[in-house]
Amino acid sequence: LLRCFPSSRWTMVGEPVNLNEFQELAREALPKMYYDFYAGGAEDQYTLEENMEAFRRIMIQPRILVDVSRIDLSTNVLGYNISAPILIAPTALHKLAHPEGEVVTARAAAACKTIMALSFTSSCTLEEVASSCNAVRFFQIYVYKRRDLSALLVQRAERNGYKALVLTADSPRVGRKEADIKNKMILPKLKNTERFLSLEASSDNVSDLEAFTKETKDASFWWKDNGSNLAAFAKETKDASFCWKDIEWLSTITNMPILIKGLLTREDAIKAVKVGVAGIVVSNHGGRQLDYAPATITVLEEVVQAVGGRIPVFFDGGVRRGTDVFKALALGAQAVLIGRPVIYGLAAKGEYGVRQVIKMLKDELELTMALSGCTSVKAITRRHVRTERERL
Ligand code: FNR
Repeated sequence: LLRCFPSSRWTMVGEPVNLNEFQELAREALPKMYYDFYAGGAEDQYTLEENMEAFRRIMIQPRILVDVSRIDLSTNVLGYNISAPILIAPTALHKLAHPEGEVVTARAAAACKTIMALSFTSSCTLEEVASSCNAVRFFQIYVYKRRDLSALLVQRAERNGYKALVLTADSPRVGRKEADIKNKMILPKLKNTERFLSLEASSDNVSDLEAFTKETKDASFWWKDNGSNLAAFAKETKDASFCWKDIEWLSTITNMPILIKGLLTREDAIKAVKVGVAGIVVSNHGGRQLDYAPATITVLEEVVQAVGGRIPVFFDGGVRRGTDVFKALALGAQAVLIGRPVIYGLAAKGEYGVRQVIKMLKDELELTMALSGCTSVKAITRRHVRTERERL
């Protein structure tokens, strides 16, 4: 029965009161093809569901009789003060949810005083997003087979004031999302594909970019493989040979701190520390790549212990409640990122919707902290939660 979570559990009346209700609003607002693209996961969607389900098996252990008349949610991420430990994860193609796309999301991030990680597969250029808001922005990348083009993109991000590079490392290939296959999910406006890939020509090296985008627009390119042109594009262009030793190359082409996103084991955590990155994001890509990868909250502590405080550990996957944020912080995350709920807010109510989603999570986190006897983010400790193993 619990597996029905989350969509079937809520019947909405009036204004949304939690993030799950925003999902329902988005389902109503979006064409089925786009809703499925955003909401779906790989294959059996086991990991997608488990990300949320695993949070439900962790209990919170409150302390009583603490003065909680003032609660401070603020925190610091890579030197930037933000209003709460809740960041916006990089997610693709916001223009499928809202005509203005990522610039709207970025404005909401600025209004909420938090950080937005712009996706490599953004439907606005990184320049458009940079000029539309004063939020602290990170830029997420996959590395192309064409390293020179990846380098160009990284340099553009740096020039436009992006503060960190998030290397997503969990998808050398793209997971099979069966709803996209059935829906024959394709990008609209193929003519503008380069915009969807952040590659729209900037002043430098236009000829290279033109050649590349022409190549990728070649008709033979689409409808291969599993019927989704995004998946086909990724397979053709991503460098599946990119590995640990190549992180060094990445660090030679940028001064931005590098975060590795998509890590799930102690072995990889140790490697990440060794190669000298500035931080890691424990993530399974919201269950969209490797199905049956563990729920992120179940491996967070293992990774945190392996890192031993040497670099910050961030977390994403299945965060839908303030209690989820609290649990992730208690298990050692410095902050969490949220993916789908931001898109649902954007689809349902534009910038206001994204702000509402973040505000709801912040309000819930604040209440959870008050009821648990924690007056600041730092006051949340491992002893404030009890995992399934400890309950046996
Ligand atoms: C993603 N995610 C993602 N990650 C990334 O590094 N680059 C990307 O372009 C995308 N695109 C993307 C699209 C959509 C529609 C979703 C739902 C997710 C993964 C994302 O950053 C994050 O890891 C998950 O979304 C976190 O899980 P929740 O919060 O969606 O449960």
